[in-house]
Amino acid sequence: MNIVFAPSRTDLPRLVGRIVGEGPLPEGTPALVAEAAAAARFAGKPGQTFEAFVAGQAGLSRLAFAGAGDLSAAGRRAALERAAGALVAKYLTSGEEALAIDFADSGLSAQDAAAVLLAARLRSWQYLVYRTRLKDEQKPSLKTIVALSAPEGTESVWDIESAVAEGVEFTRELVTEPANVIYPESFVARCQERLAGTGVEIVVLDEKQMAELGMGALLGVAQGSVKTPRLLAMRWKGKAGARPTAFVGKGVCFDTGGISIKPAAGMEDMKWDMGGAAAVAGTMLTLARRKAEADVIGVCGLVENMPDGNAQRPGDVVTSMNGQTIEVINTDAEGRLVLCDALTWVQKEYQPATIVDLATLTGAIIISLGHEHAGMFANDDLLASQLDAAGKACGDTLWRMPIGPAYDKLIDSPIADMKNVGPRYGGSITAAQFLARFIDKGVAWAHLDIAGTVWIDKAGATHDKGATGFGVRLLDRYVRDVLEA
Ligand code: BES
Ligand code: MN
Ligand code: ZN
Repeated sequence: MNIVFAPSRTDLPRLVGRIVGEGPLPEGTPALVAEAAAAARFAGKPGQTFEAFVAGQAGLSRLAFAGAGDLSAAGRRAALERAAGALVAKYLTSGEEALAIDFADSGLSAQDAAAVLLAARLRSWQYLVYRTRLKDEQKPSLKTIVALSAPEGTESVWDIESAVAEGVEFTRELVTEPANVIYPESFVARCQERLAGTGVEIVVLDEKQMAELGMGALLGVAQGSVKTPRLLAMRWKGKAGARPTAFVGKGVCFDTGGISIKPAAGMEDMKWDMGGAAAVAGTMLTLARRKAEADVIGVCGLVENMPDGNAQRPGDVVTSMNGQTIEVINTDAEGRLVLCDALTWVQKEYQPATIVDLATLTGAIIISLGHEHAGMFANDDLLASQLDAAGKACGDTLWRMPIGPAYDKLIDSPIADMKNVGPRYGGSITAAQFLARFIDKGVAWAHLDIAGTVWIDKAGATHDKGATGFGVRLLDRYVRDVLEA
């Protein structure tokens, strides 16, 4: 979606939308239109839309209104997003190619207007690369959003927000691509392509290099696949000095479960088991595009989890990069095995002060929190509260879950230092405990279990059904509010 700013009110598209709160329609709305809106019970409620056809200067004009509800409340950003999303969804395949959003006398700030534009752009994103037989009326017609009479300063806020949009869209693309297209090697290639020229430094480790480093946990997962694993590190050094911050993502490009194979129904979903890695990659793109004043390293542990003659077996014992031994009770609990070596590596290589990992780690977190929050586990209350605040501010919301010694001992193993699964109950927590065993003393760490928020089968305010891009806005907001503050 193209976002342009209109300096004047000439040459406008015939479709003009407005974001309105509850109460009377904006001044200047033709009386008959206001009457029609009332007759149609349009009250500016969140997500409500209303359209009127009127005679314009050069023929037909379409006036559209989208309700944001109560704009005074703390949920202002979410309300604006809901209105913008509803407006764009309504016209995406309408045949109209351009939609002007008229901000004149809207009472909105530059931040508000940029939030509207971001939501409009994000809601319009679709990945139609493989849809070769779409009928014309199924294809999105809307190509341009014209920001009309935007509040002063909107364009410079938009410069930053458009970097966020790019990152979210890149994440969604990686998540949406099927596993025959995006596997460890091609994931790396796609990142190299997209990050070329941005100033992000890229380091890639192949299987041999990881073997030399002793990453037995990650390699044990990868060994059942003909697709070789990669470790991808992307550094945006927008600031020199102190210890960097690391974002680490689970990049299981397809998760069959391995020898502990998953049931067939729904297994296709496991193409998005690399949603954590994709969020890290998208975030790095955003940070570089907006030239964030922060030193951030994004690490992706990239593997495919397949059953095969060479696959690891339940009961196998593997040794992680930091020398801990792990009994692999269930080959489907592979994400933690990939992450533990990625976590060790980033700590050894870069000494980060703070680590946030993102992973589609457990089905259990979907049972706990549904699709509304990602689960957050942290060893540091300050980091947890900063991430929680970032989530509330941007809409990628988190819910903190407990960790502690009583859960930790559930993964002790009789034959090795630990096993990769605990008992049936509290599965998201024991997964987090496993990761905690790989965090060095003095490092502030949070683990985000995003299994329920990476992919949603129903459209929301800022996304169509499918990939949400969860994590990019969250991490970007954290960088702005904490690292750049
Ligand atoms: N990738 C899955 C978790 C998952 C499940 C994500 C459903 C999204 C939707 C993960 O690798 C996994 O298989 N976890 C197991 C752990 C179990 C074997 C302890 C699970 O959640 O069932
Ligand atoms: Mn699994
Ligand atoms: Zn998995």
